[in-house]
Amino acid sequence: MKSIDMNTKRTCAIRAKDLYKVYPNGTEALKDVSLEVKDKDFIVVIGLSGAGKSTLLRCLNRLVRPTSGELELFDEDITCVSGSRLKHVRRRVGMIFQQFNLVRRLTVLENVLVGRLRFNSSPVGLCMTLLRRFPKREKEFAFECLRQVGIADLAFRRADALSGGQQQRVAIARALAQEPEVFLADEPIASLDPRSSETVMQTLMQIHEEKGIPVLVNLHHIDFAQRFGKRVLGMSKGELIFDGTCRDLCRDTVSTIYGDKAEEALQELDAA
Ligand SMILES: Nc1ncnc2c1ncn2[C@@H]1O[C@H](COP(=O)(O)OP(=O)(O)OP(=O)(O)O)[C@@H](O)[C@H]1O
Ligand SMILES: [Mg+2]
Repeated sequence: MKSIDMNTKRTCAIRAKDLYKVYPNGTEALKDVSLEVKDKDFIVVIGLSGAGKSTLLRCLNRLVRPTSGELELFDEDITCVSGSRLKHVRRRVGMIFQQFNLVRRLTVLENVLVGRLRFNSSPVGLCMTLLRRFPKREKEFAFECLRQVGIADLAFRRADALSGGQQQRVAIARALAQEPEVFLADEPIASLDPRSSETVMQTLMQIHEEKGIPVLVNLHHIDFAQRFGKRVLGMSKGELIFDGTCRDLCRDTVSTIYGDKAEEALQELDAA
């Protein structure tokens, strides 16, 4: 399977400059956010509920249009793209959500194949009726994606017969099937038990390390952030107030990011 060619000159996957997002109801969800995501990055974004983490991720793959500022994906200006160019941007960015968003009545393999179809020109409904006529190489590719997340043995199970952790790994395989160049994950472990959370985070880390794909993950839990984040971004009230390594994440910074929930976060940090 294709991996990012590390010999190319490209070093910046995403570049955001002076990003603002004001929702129609007046909420300022992002204020003057600038950041660069490099190929080598595995970034964890932390912050309280409402800090703007999801808005940031959604702006980065243009699910949300920033109110102002500039956005680049691999040196291409995507601030205002629409139509087929926007579709192309979405295909290059693998997105993983808290709620997995699988088609419950389809098998695991079919869900991964849908991931591959999502960005084709034919409507998904039509493609789904053709699923059983999928070329062999497409099915093999989907199997390979499932192997990479360690659940090829579940390929013919219905998606709704899986545990939460397994479903999230299907969602990762589905995103892999897009052959993305960057991964964005919005609270991928928020509905999972600690053991499944660990497996899902390790799966993301393994993909990052083996395929050289940069990853940006929103997480509530600071202990996971500390363990997995090579780089940590701290958000508070729409602003990016910390950008550094876990080692730089001192108690004062944690207190600033988590406000009146700091005590809880610091306990997690001590326990990690
Ligand atoms: N579609 C929307 N319309 C209006 N306001 C919104 C919308 N989406 C988010 N917001 C507001 O923008 C702010 C940032 O929300 P966002 O979902 O980005 O935060 P978050 O850090 O992801 O929070 P959580 O940890 O709860 O997921 C919040 O005040 C939220 O209420
Ligand atoms: Mg969120």
